[in-house]
Amino acid sequence: MSPCGNCLIFVFFVINICAFVNCDEGTSLDSGDQVRPDSPGLPRVPSSLLADSFVPLSLMSSFPEDLEISNYCLELLSIFSQRYSDYVKCLVPAARPVRVCMKCYSGYGSLLNAYMNISSDQMGPGNESCRDSLMRSDRLMLVYVLFSNMQDLWEKSNCDFCITEKFQGVNNETTHFMKNLNQTLSCFEKYQQGNHTELCKNCKSSYKGLNELYSSMEKTLCIDVEDAMNMTRILWSKNFNCSMPRGETVPVIAVSSFMLFLPIIFYLSSFLHSEQKKRKLIHPKRMKSYSSLMNIQDKRS
Ligand SMILES: *[C@@H]1O[C@H](CO)[C@@H](O)[C@H](O)[C@H]1NC(C)=O
Ligand SMILES: *[C@@H]1O[C@H](CO)[C@@H](O)[C@H](O)[C@H]1NC(C)=O
Ligand SMILES: *[C@@H]1O[C@H](CO)[C@@H](O)[C@H](O)[C@H]1NC(C)=O
Ligand SMILES: *[C@@H]1O[C@H](CO)[C@@H](O)[C@H](O)[C@H]1NC(C)=O
Ligand SMILES: *[C@@H]1O[C@H](CO)[C@@H](O)[C@H](O)[C@H]1NC(C)=O
Ligand SMILES: *[C@@H]1O[C@H](CO)[C@@H](O)[C@H](O)[C@H]1NC(C)=O
Ligand SMILES: *[C@@H]1O[C@H](CO)[C@@H](O)[C@H](O)[C@H]1NC(C)=O
Repeated sequence: MSPCGNCLIFVFFVINICAFVNCDEGTSLDSGDQVRPDSPGLPRVPSSLLADSFVPLSLMSSFPEDLEISNYCLELLSIFSQRYSDYVKCLVPAARPVRVCMKCYSGYGSLLNAYMNISSDQMGPGNESCRDSLMRSDRLMLVYVLFSNMQDLWEKSNCDFCITEKFQGVNNETTHFMKNLNQTLSCFEKYQQGNHTELCKNCKSSYKGLNELYSSMEKTLCIDVEDAMNMTRILWSKNFNCSMPRGETVPVIAVSSFMLFLPIIFYLSSFLHSEQKKRKLIHPKRMKSYSSLMNIQDKRS
């Protein structure tokens, strides 16, 4: 073997070692990623899309011009990426107590806006549709899948019922409810330390008002309101052991007691009715005899 051949082998060896070490670092990072528990149903945010810039992409790309993605579409993708990660960052801390609508509606509005621009079929500069190049070029359809997951979440939360049109703000009904909720919770906080019977007595009107407001609201409520009421009811009845007829139980009791009395009312009324009939049957004769008697008496007197 020539000395040059030995050189080559050595260089190969070194390259292999380097590759191995790099690879090892990579896997250790990956396994660190995997420790995070994946929540079912939700997409894993692809850290490479969000964290890394597009540098590796442009280094890798070696396709001819006409298969290449335009800078315009890359720009749209970058905006989408930013807004997606912002929205997710807002959502996760808003999971408990649920405030996903009230805290993150503007983030969803922005994300929707960015997605609309990608998915619309309007042409960008250069007569190119980013929908085709970003969303329809592969079977993964990452942008589409990521967005529809967020859309599902938004729809499942009924957030539209808390938010004014065009994502301007929280609507009046919800704001009003939240104000009342704050009052009730403040009352709970105030009397929490002492005797719970005190709490039950003093916060009763506030709690009752909140319940009435809740049942007077529209049938479909966003998850923020629904969860707040649920938690307040649990606090009231489980944690503080206060018993109070909820808004719904009063009519229930009224109706059921009415039902209970129905047979009695029925028998009573039929009894009275038959008595009346009897009287009617007997009356004419008596009347006759009575009136004749009167006549006789009249004549006599
Ligand atoms: C989407 O397109 C409209 C009109 O072309 C533009 O005003 C808006 O800023 C764009 N939004 C994003 C997120 O690029
Ligand atoms: C875009 O396409 C239209 C016709 O579809 C053509 O008239 C126009 O010149 C094209 N513009 C560019 C920048 O290629
Ligand atoms: C909601 O509240 C705002 C300001 O408090 C008021 O201007 C607006 O008229 C209200 N809208 C409705 C539908 O009550
Ligand atoms: C109620 O609202 C006030 C002011 O908006 C706030 O300081 C307070 O912490 C709230 N109370 C609760 C229990 O959320
Ligand atoms: C605490 O509650 C009990 C009934 O559970 C009551 O008899 C007692 O008077 C209360 N104590 C105070 C200091 O309010
Ligand atoms: C209310 O809370 C209970 C207990 O935390 C939970 O199981 C239930 O799903 C909640 N209901 C709603 C409508 O969120
Ligand atoms: C609530 O009442 C139940 C039984 O009525 C009792 O077992 C429980 O300890 C009470 N909890 C509190 C916080 O007073």
